[in-house]
Amino acid sequence: MKKGTRPLPDRNAALKQYRGRAGVYDLELALFEPIRRRAVALLALQPGETVLDVGCGTGLSLPLLERGIGARGRIVGIEQSPEMIERARQRVRQRRWANVTLLCAPVESAEIALKADAALFHLTHDILQRPEAVANVLSHLKPGARVVASGIQWAEAWRWPVNLFVLPAALRSVTSLAGLSAPWAGLAEAMPDLQLKSMWMGGVFVASGTLPVRR
Ligand SMILES: C[S@@+](CC[C@H](N)C(=O)[O-])C[C@H]1O[C@@H](n2cnc3c(N)ncnc32)[C@H](O)[C@@H]1O
Repeated sequence: MKKGTRPLPDRNAALKQYRGRAGVYDLELALFEPIRRRAVALLALQPGETVLDVGCGTGLSLPLLERGIGARGRIVGIEQSPEMIERARQRVRQRRWANVTLLCAPVESAEIALKADAALFHLTHDILQRPEAVANVLSHLKPGARVVASGIQWAEAWRWPVNLFVLPAALRSVTSLAGLSAPWAGLAEAMPDLQLKSMWMGGVFVASGTLPVRR
């Protein structure tokens, strides 16, 4: 491996991981709801805005995003796992949301047909580690758009007991542990104003920033 490069997440392993997990995912995630709420609140969505839900999974963030953008707004969810996105589709049908578009595609090659006001990366470590995926999302945001990313991270070494919880969570949800010390690093390169907060004794991060008006 060349210096400065690290292994990319494994797409086939991720598809397999979430094929097996889709049926129990929503139950498993109940504990993580406070982080989702904090992340979506930081997006500061306004009625009529458009938001990207990157790696939307089963659509657990959709109700909160809908509340923020209202009936005049739009949500585009991007998700590569057919089993996960099918559950998001069911959620959209049940709630009769006409303003949600779900794209079943890898984020790095998804054809996003608009420019959004905001983007959410919630629990999307594998996606944040793919520079081309981050670049595709950022290129479909308006200048000054808000971006929030949240998820697990390695706590500082002296808080090693926290990492005893981070490790199994990571093994269940990501395909590469690379980058887990600073999952937001790729976003920070594009957004100099990125602000970091930590939760759960340093085992969870919430990063928020805005895309520069001139890039
Ligand atoms: C831990 S889940 C998070 C789902 C959702 N964001 C949530 O908050 O519940 C991670 C999701 O990212 C998806 N994913 C991973 N890599 C991806 C990629 N390159 N493109 C699209 N989706 C991806 C997985 O299939 C999975 O549904």
